[in-house]
Amino acid sequence: MSRGGERRMWGGRFAEETDALVQAFNASIDVDREMALEDVDGSIAHATMLGEQGIVTPEEALALVAGLRELRGAVERGEVEWSVALEDVHMNLERRLTERLGPVGGKLHTARSRNDQVATDFRLAVRGRTRALIALLRELRAVFVDLAERDLDVIVPGYTHLQVAQPVRLGHHWLAYYEMFTRDQGRLADSLARLDVSPLGAGALAGTGFPIDRHRTAALLGFREPAANSLDAVSDRDFALEFLAAAAIAMVHLSRLSEELILWSSQEFGFVELPDSHTTGSSIMPQKKNPDVSELVRGKSGRVFGALVGLLTVMKGLPLAYNKDMQEDKEGAFDAAATLAVCLRLTADMLPRVRVRAERTRHAAGRAFSNATDLADHLARGGMPFRDAHEAVGRLVAIALAEGVDLQELPLARLREVAPQLDEGVFAVLDVEAVVDARASYGGTARPRVLEQIARARAALAAEGAA
Ligand code: ARG
Repeated sequence: MSRGGERRMWGGRFAEETDALVQAFNASIDVDREMALEDVDGSIAHATMLGEQGIVTPEEALALVAGLRELRGAVERGEVEWSVALEDVHMNLERRLTERLGPVGGKLHTARSRNDQVATDFRLAVRGRTRALIALLRELRAVFVDLAERDLDVIVPGYTHLQVAQPVRLGHHWLAYYEMFTRDQGRLADSLARLDVSPLGAGALAGTGFPIDRHRTAALLGFREPAANSLDAVSDRDFALEFLAAAAIAMVHLSRLSEELILWSSQEFGFVELPDSHTTGSSIMPQKKNPDVSELVRGKSGRVFGALVGLLTVMKGLPLAYNKDMQEDKEGAFDAAATLAVCLRLTADMLPRVRVRAERTRHAAGRAFSNATDLADHLARGGMPFRDAHEAVGRLVAIALAEGVDLQELPLARLREVAPQLDEGVFAVLDVEAVVDARASYGGTARPRVLEQIARARAALAAEGAA
């Protein structure tokens, strides 16, 4: 069962059953095999450098690199047999290489430790996932800009405290999410700048006595430079924490959006109808159409927050340098990356198919005194201090509430009982369209301001596309 040096290292002082359990407990192959390609790439860079530096002969380096290239193909084709007895991806791959090449395979690990190896692999793996998520975020942002254009003239109630506040253009609402996901993309892009150093060559913790070239391996792996301090290089997991923090914040945004879709698609709101393709039925209630995708996106945010808190907790008490605790770093990070990716994909796929019930949203937007601020603003423009105007409109709201009508439904005579300076012109101010377009301050919901936002967003996306 156990193979080679592994067996000898553990020796005979443990009972057989304990050995098996410890072996399984200690092994990380089920998780770290996900970075097998990164491990091979790191080894190819290392072997290349060993040859160039004369640490192995040119023939040995050629043999190692050729063997590693073959092994890479085997990994891609799913042909590599993973063994728990070989503990992790590093020792599994080294063993498979040695099986192919014979004793020269044993030279690969010269001037290298699994500590710098795993730190390098994990950085490469997080880098790849971060890049993929950046592309997905960009796609989702483009969806929001398309929706903003489509729903420019759809008016919805805007809320604070989930109480109707002021009407807004639905396009404006979608663009709020464009902004959130733009920041999420920016956070991931920023994290790549700090991730961009190579731990390879830090050795176990202190460096190595062999004449390695860390700049060369860094360049071969597409890193900007080698990490400056060997102790830090093998024990730093900030890059994974930053990744998880950015992922967690993106999940917050996806979750808030999902919550709105869930609310808006309820019978009580009836603002949108979710597509059949992204909803499910009930096994007992034939009428049900449940927003499962949105609910799951909202729910899966918990996994990603958990991964962040989990890794923060793993790291917080660790003395320098490498500690085995750090083996717990990958599972949550990979799960978070996969979770965020599928949530972004589903959201981008679903949103364009959401049917907006514009008559209902417009009706709801024009009710519940969503124009009360505008009446107060109107009085304030006429010279009344805003505080007094606020008080006067409050009294009118009370009157309207008592009569079961909205402000615009009160006759002018009733309005003038409280504010005699009002004339017929007030009704134009109270119209929902006018209310929306009155908010023409920078970043506001007036039509020209929303069009400006769309143009700015389109320009940003185009510039990124060109980059
Ligand atoms: N499987 C280990 C991890 O993921 C690799 C590094 C092991 N290093 C060691 N000194 N035991 O962290």
